[in-house]
Amino acid sequence: MTNSPYLISPSLTQEQLSIEKTVKLGVMASGSGSNFEAIALAINEGKLNAKIEVLIYNNPDAKVKERADRLNIPTVLLNHRDYKTRKALDQAIVEVFQVHGVEWVVMAGWMRIITQELLNAYPQKVINIHPSILPSFKGINAVEQALSARVKVTGCTVHLVDLEVDSGEILIQAVVPILADDTADSLHDRIQIQEHRIIVEGISIALSRNS
Ligand code: GAR
Repeated sequence: MTNSPYLISPSLTQEQLSIEKTVKLGVMASGSGSNFEAIALAINEGKLNAKIEVLIYNNPDAKVKERADRLNIPTVLLNHRDYKTRKALDQAIVEVFQVHGVEWVVMAGWMRIITQELLNAYPQKVINIHPSILPSFKGINAVEQALSARVKVTGCTVHLVDLEVDSGEILIQAVVPILADDTADSLHDRIQIQEHRIIVEGISIALSRNS
């Protein structure tokens, strides 16, 4: 069985995908950070004309912190447990991003619901990655949801963020077949291979339209 996805192609050509100036990104992550690292590597390899100005993470033990240190990217821990409301956390996030001159925000495995605070500061400039073909399987445990539903394919989506969870304009998707003996881990591993590709392509699409 092959891992190769059926990719729903971006509507822009390679020429149209060029980003004129180096765009300042702020990344938010809660866990392992493999998508964060995929973005950083694409930038280092010259595939994305951008710079990650700062990583915000919310779990003190998140592995993403080690990745950022190794890649020499500044980090700020904003532990959600220290904030009384979602709004207060998002105000702190916006403050950090503004201090670092961030122009676009990428949620790369950010497991908190965001508020209007972030969207007011970055209207149509927040990008998210989700491990399903949206609008199917929104919310948490998207991979488990796909297995329980006994669908034959699932995948991942990169989209602009609006206030409703896991909605907003879809930028790019990749489809991943579900195998008979898949577990949530084995399926998520194959989805992540595609995520690391489409997170970079999705950011390129968004930035080249509107940087
Ligand atoms: C990714 O699979 C991403 O799609 C998912 O969290 C994982 C983070 O992995 N995001 C969501 O479920 C958001 N609703 P990573 O930390 O290795 O990048």
